[in-house]
Amino acid sequence: MSEHILEIRHLGKAFGAHEVLRDIDFTVDAGDVISIIGASGSGKSTLLRCINLLETPTSGEILYHGTNVAGRGVSAAKYRSRVGMVFQSFNLFNNMTVLENCMVGQRKVLGRGKAEAQAQAVAYLNKVGMAPYIYAKPRQLSGGQKQRVAIARALAMEPEVLLFDEPTSALDPEMVGEVLAVMQALANDGMTMLVVTHEMAFARDVSSRAVFMHEGVICEQGAPAALFGDPQRQETRDFLARFRSA
Ligand SMILES: Nc1ncnc2c1ncn2[C@@H]1O[C@H](COP(=O)(O)OP(=O)(O)OP(=O)(O)O)[C@@H](O)[C@H]1O
Ligand SMILES: [Mg+2]
Repeated sequence: MSEHILEIRHLGKAFGAHEVLRDIDFTVDAGDVISIIGASGSGKSTLLRCINLLETPTSGEILYHGTNVAGRGVSAAKYRSRVGMVFQSFNLFNNMTVLENCMVGQRKVLGRGKAEAQAQAVAYLNKVGMAPYIYAKPRQLSGGQKQRVAIARALAMEPEVLLFDEPTSALDPEMVGEVLAVMQALANDGMTMLVVTHEMAFARDVSSRAVFMHEGVICEQGAPAALFGDPQRQETRDFLARFRSA
């Protein structure tokens, strides 16, 4: 059995002739909080979508505890209950209440009974400060509240790893902080997280490792203090400089 939770090996993805990811190698261990940064179009979302089995890699392997999940015979729904994902656009079910949103996966994928699923949902909604809204529909919520519900929904599955794809990018500026605070609390609790983000302060201050992607490859990765404070590659320096002047 592999010591790593996830091991990405030589992962490649092409859309037609367009190679979007090339030879991506990295590992995710328990308690890692990994930030993935990089310019628009560098392949960050595609990488996360491959890891969540929303895209099929063109080459390479995604090992989850040593098993290649990009191969045949893997239940995507079961795997996603272990490796959950939070999207930029929340992806809540608009016809369901907050509570139902946080129960449906537990009922359908984990086979939990109604009482247990409800208790779990309420516990995690409470954790993200959304317990007062259990009977609300998503349209009645602000963006920040919706994202906190989406995080509670993912947590209610009790995943081993959570993937976040720019969880604050669709939010009005005044709501970014409440979502980042929830994510910071999760990181402090030891949750294993892979976070694609443009929030450089989060990447620098909260993550245990930062990965800089450039044109479909991992250009540089390391401790956030080193990557932000003393980047080794010119591409990393250029990217960070653009961010600082933005
Ligand atoms: N389904 C698709 N079909 C064809 N090309 C795609 C598809 N999805 C992504 N791409 C292309 O792959 C490249 C990488 O896209 P991706 O969304 O992974 O970038 P990103 O780093 O997440 O960018 P952003 O910061 O803007 O979210 C882009 O050139 C994009 O146009
Ligand atoms: Mg993206």
